[in-house]
Amino acid sequence: MAEQAIVDSLGRQLHDLRVSVTDRCNFRCVYCMPKEVFGRGYQFLAKKELLTFEEIERLVKIFAGLGVRKIRLTGGEPLVRSELENLIERIAAVDNIDDISLTTNAVLLSEKRAQSLRSAGLGRVNISLDALDDETFKAINDVGVPVKKVLDGIEAAASAGFDSVKVNMVVKRGMNEDSIVPMARYFHGTGQILRFIEFMDVGNTNAWHDNAVMTAQQIVDVINAELPIEPVEANYLGEVAKRWKYTDGGGEIGVISSVSEPFCGDCSRARLSAVGKLYTCLFAADGFDLMSLVRSESSDVEIEQRLRKLWARRRDRYSETRTVESVLRPKVEMSYIGG
Ligand code: GTP
Ligand code: 5AD
Ligand code: SF4
Ligand code: SF4
Repeated sequence: MAEQAIVDSLGRQLHDLRVSVTDRCNFRCVYCMPKEVFGRGYQFLAKKELLTFEEIERLVKIFAGLGVRKIRLTGGEPLVRSELENLIERIAAVDNIDDISLTTNAVLLSEKRAQSLRSAGLGRVNISLDALDDETFKAINDVGVPVKKVLDGIEAAASAGFDSVKVNMVVKRGMNEDSIVPMARYFHGTGQILRFIEFMDVGNTNAWHDNAVMTAQQIVDVINAELPIEPVEANYLGEVAKRWKYTDGGGEIGVISSVSEPFCGDCSRARLSAVGKLYTCLFAADGFDLMSLVRSESSDVEIEQRLRKLWARRRDRYSETRTVESVLRPKVEMSYIGG
């Protein structure tokens, strides 16, 4: 397929596709899937409602023809979807896809699993961990998983030889701000890049309030007071995390400041939900029904043309326009869209 990059109405190219493979998760993080909402009675998607791996592969090929180079697999928790390696193999074989990564809580990331994901063609892994002490971490994941379980997953990823292993820590005031420095110390010098994420108003169920946001600047100040850091240039235009490095050579960290310093200006990301809806912003209310198109008689060229039109009229810049009212607007849930 002849490649022709596409640009949206604000001049932003489509470059990344985040693919959610399931809405299920083995955690109930209080800031993402609170048990009061995602409890026993919650209706998760049935397997037959999900895009099949063949359908995802077909869509990835079409997106690659539109300029997509990066694929990130997300969930819910992507490792609960069976045979994920099969999907990774298919994506790895698609021309022009040069970066395949996974965002996971690592509970299912045994050494064997990490190796099989690596062999299938997975390049990078980002692992979520919000605290280093069990009391705080168990209160966050709300299913009693101890810190050690995730640290073992991080070790497994490190041993499997991925191109990078990053650790994501969502910082929420009143939840885990005391864990910032211990986390920084723990990952200092390991080669694993710790990223601090401002608590965001994704979805409508996580009781977000701006009082609970610890800003990037506040996080940087806390770290800098203990372990001096200095800013580093971005790796590429549109990088989500701002980079910092320890002045003592202990490696780098990142800070993701969607609330205090939005980065919509370079946003090159589209998101595909597990049921095949395409979202052009993490904070969107609704997406475009690609599954119906994929299951219709439409050819690849017809789907490509539809996507071109959709991206061309994209105007999303939610984080730059966030208001007290917008926070309450209906938005897709984090576990459904994968962050
Ligand atoms: P890298 O490719 O390693 O830089 O990964 P990433 O940071 O893009 O992905 P990851 O899944 O690790 O996400 C880290 C955090 O950034 C999560 O909280 C995501 O929700 C958030 N994030 C990723 N992309 C966007 C975005 O386009 N907008 C906003 N507001 N947040 C984003
Ligand atoms: N704000 C910021 N980050 C969040 N994540 C989940 N919910 C939120 C939120 N409300 C993070 C997860 C994971 C990544 C995909 O998004 O911890 O690391
Ligand atoms: Fe926690 Fe990620 Fe699961 Fe959400 S999807 S509950 S952030 S582990
Ligand atoms: Fe992109 Fe929307 Fe995030 Fe802005 S808020 S960076 S437009 S996904």
